[in-house]
Amino acid sequence: MASSRVRKALIPAAGRGTRFLPLTKSVPKELVPIVSTPALEFVVTEASESGISDILVVLSQGKGAIADYFAPNHELEAALEAKGDTQGLASIRRLSSLAAIHQVEQLEPRGLGDAVAHGEQFAAGEPFAVLLPDDLIDERDELLGRMLEVQAEYGGIVLALLDVPRSEISKYGSIAPVDGADPDAEVVAVADLVEKPAAKDAPSTLAIIGRYILPPEIFSALRQTKPGAGGEIQLTDAMRRLARSGTPVHGVVFRGRRYDTGDRLEYVKAVVQLAVRHPVIGTDFAAWLREYVSGLE
Ligand code: UTP
Repeated sequence: MASSRVRKALIPAAGRGTRFLPLTKSVPKELVPIVSTPALEFVVTEASESGISDILVVLSQGKGAIADYFAPNHELEAALEAKGDTQGLASIRRLSSLAAIHQVEQLEPRGLGDAVAHGEQFAAGEPFAVLLPDDLIDERDELLGRMLEVQAEYGGIVLALLDVPRSEISKYGSIAPVDGADPDAEVVAVADLVEKPAAKDAPSTLAIIGRYILPPEIFSALRQTKPGAGGEIQLTDAMRRLARSGTPVHGVVFRGRRYDTGDRLEYVKAVVQLAVRHPVIGTDFAAWLREYVSGLE
């Protein structure tokens, strides 16, 4: 079942970000910087580079800073222009060249499924991508583009999967591959999905990470999905409902570099890794880092 080209993406950014308190009391975690670029901008760039032209950001009431981040700031542009700061100017103008950014408000953080449900009007009957801004995919490695190819071939749902140690699977959703699936294949046909399984019950060590391609049927499945763990509407439960009613589900097993910026330790590691490769400060930072590490006990 081939389907039309996906050109829309939804980015949920309305969560409480409690792992980053106290900062997230007033600063959205999606704007937490990787050197000087917010995590959210990396994800918007990734979508744009995979051919997405329209992005819906799901915001909560307290996250006006995200809306401001994407809105043009003519006064700042004029000031940078007057100063001849072409780099600064390009860095703020590129945002509006990446994609058309739309916004919708989620009044209460009732879970990822509920955030996605806010995209029904935006999707307007088309399949769409979902990108979680906590998950950064290294620009040298391709994931979303490959998922879009798989969606064009099979239709239905396409998941991004990461093979994790069994001890970590309970932090994620997991999948059961169809019987007889090759465990080393790059594209896996999925029989079932389960949210945060106990390590001993997990049907595989393939974890669902923050990229999805969803068909528009997800909205009716979400409406039928009751709140699950923590009173939240789980996207995994709605996808499972579709899988059980015959929607094809495939997973692309990602073997590249991924950074989880929603977790403090992983966030700091991401900043260090990306700072080392930064076009302006990378060389100096790497030299300092070598010296610093050699001096650690
Ligand atoms: P997370 O569960 O990782 O984010 O959701 P969180 O709840 O904000 O973070 P913690 O666990 O309290 O630290 C993944 C993504 O889904 C969004 C979040 O903003 C994040 O980008 N999200 C989550 C919503 O948009 N709405 C929700 O109701 C829940």
